[in-house]
Amino acid sequence: MKMIFATGNSDKMREIREIMADMEVEILSMKEAGIQLEIEENGTTFEENALIKAKAVAACTDAIVLADDSGLEVDYLNKEPGVYSARYMGEDTSYEIKNQAILDRLSGVPKEQRTARFVCAIAAVLPDKSTLVTRETIEGYIGDCPAGTNGFGYDPIFYVDEYHCSTAELSEEAKNAISHRGKALRAMKELLRQRGF
Ligand code: IMP
Repeated sequence: MKMIFATGNSDKMREIREIMADMEVEILSMKEAGIQLEIEENGTTFEENALIKAKAVAACTDAIVLADDSGLEVDYLNKEPGVYSARYMGEDTSYEIKNQAILDRLSGVPKEQRTARFVCAIAAVLPDKSTLVTRETIEGYIGDCPAGTNGFGYDPIFYVDEYHCSTAELSEEAKNAISHRGKALRAMKELLRQRGF
């Protein structure tokens, strides 16, 4: 059985291959499957965007298709940047600038009000075109200043209580074990298993 993960990101491909390693499926990227598509992510929730991507790819194949959508929700900022995380202040604006802008907007705000989470939704379209969706989070808070050089995106300003550090200070393995994407992928694996895959 073939499974296509609708992403062009090689880090995400590595993570899904690790998590799905014990399943009887061959996992392909869109490129490996020979599918080239520009997909407009115009949903208003992570779940909607993941489904939009998975359905667009599933229209080209009978394989199982998985897609993800993720982002950062900052409670004090009414859950911004949310589904606009990659586009916050413009797609081409560096994360140094995006992260500093969030820190500036939270200037003087006490720790209890700096709660935030990374969210990840994973959508699947099965060969019979039925759909499955999982959504998981990692809870944390926005620190006072950026720290760490691992990871990507908002990792330097997102702190987790259990480690007392930012997710950019965690090793890749430590982050994957607790991350929104790792949890949502493992939950999806369970749903697929229940469907007999
Ligand atoms: P996408 O799901 O690949 O479109 O990612 C959306 C955006 O959310 C990324 O570009 C990052 O800005 C942010 N994001 C999602 N997950 C993480 C994470 O684990 N660390 C840091 N930023 C993240």
